Amino acid sequence: MKPIVYITRKLPDEAVAGLRESYEVRMWEEEETPVPREVLLEEVKEASAIWAMLTDSIDREVLDNAPNLKIVSNLAVGHNNIDLDAARERGICVTNTPDALTEATADLTFALLMATARRLSEASRALRAGEWKAWTPLGFTGHDVYGATIGIIGMGRIGEAVARRAKGFDMDVLYHNRTRRRFEDFVYSDLDELLSRSDFVVLLTPYTDQTAGMIGERELGLMKNTASLINVARGGIVDEKALEAALKNGDIWAAGLDVFEEEPVPTDHPLLSLPNVTVTPHIGSASVQARHAMMQLNAEAIHACLTGNDIKNRVC
Ligand code: DGY
Repeated sequence: MKPIVYITRKLPDEAVAGLRESYEVRMWEEEETPVPREVLLEEVKEASAIWAMLTDSIDREVLDNAPNLKIVSNLAVGHNNIDLDAARERGICVTNTPDALTEATADLTFALLMATARRLSEASRALRAGEWKAWTPLGFTGHDVYGATIGIIGMGRIGEAVARRAKGFDMDVLYHNRTRRRFEDFVYSDLDELLSRSDFVVLLTPYTDQTAGMIGERELGLMKNTASLINVARGGIVDEKALEAALKNGDIWAAGLDVFEEEPVPTDHPLLSLPNVTVTPHIGSASVQARHAMMQLNAEAIHACLTGNDIKNRVC
């Protein structure tokens, strides 16, 4: 009997073809909807590998239901949806997809940064609604990106890629990270100083117990009232109620959000009604090239694990 690989979402044939040669591949055959919990719990019973999405909670209950499981390979660089302690205790390997999505996610980060600075979604909406009556000297004026100061919280691969883009715009780059790193052009800053000096505060830190809610009322209060907050990491890093208040009161200029505490974010969420908020539906890594490269990493990791070879991109 071939080992079973369970894939929690419909993936393109070409991404899965290689695995089909050696394994029995089972898949949740829907692209738009995450696998229901009860189906996941049933399907993992015989699985040697789970190819998971960031929408799946791979917790103790799932792992307990999967006695043959050797690997969980996550189609994301973030892995806060997986209980790593529980995986470690059971000797189950977890992998993610770094590098493949670095540039795509940095592009989206910069797109949101520019959109907030120049009020793109607000201006576009007004035009479509027939509110553009005439060109006006100060209509839809925003803030310069060129020469501004960017503060990057979480200076990993994606942070560095954003910083490189920022240098092309002649920006001053501050960063805050758990560990100080050696850069010629990017300046380490403590969190409070970064918040108070930056024109754009960009969140790219992993979501952990330490970073949950790290941007709240106090931190938003330190930001300039002309500054934008960009979150392409995880929604739970920001206190959304505090953010709503800061945006409404004009304590900060704007927010660009790709991620939310609850996803999909409910359409009646107060943040969505604010004109100075630009939103996208968690599409940081959503370029065709990045997503295919990510899938390839997952497939390779699963194959390496199930054949006893060296596994790349291990988180644990
Ligand atoms: C990730 O890989 O963690 C990103 O959030 C996907 O866009």
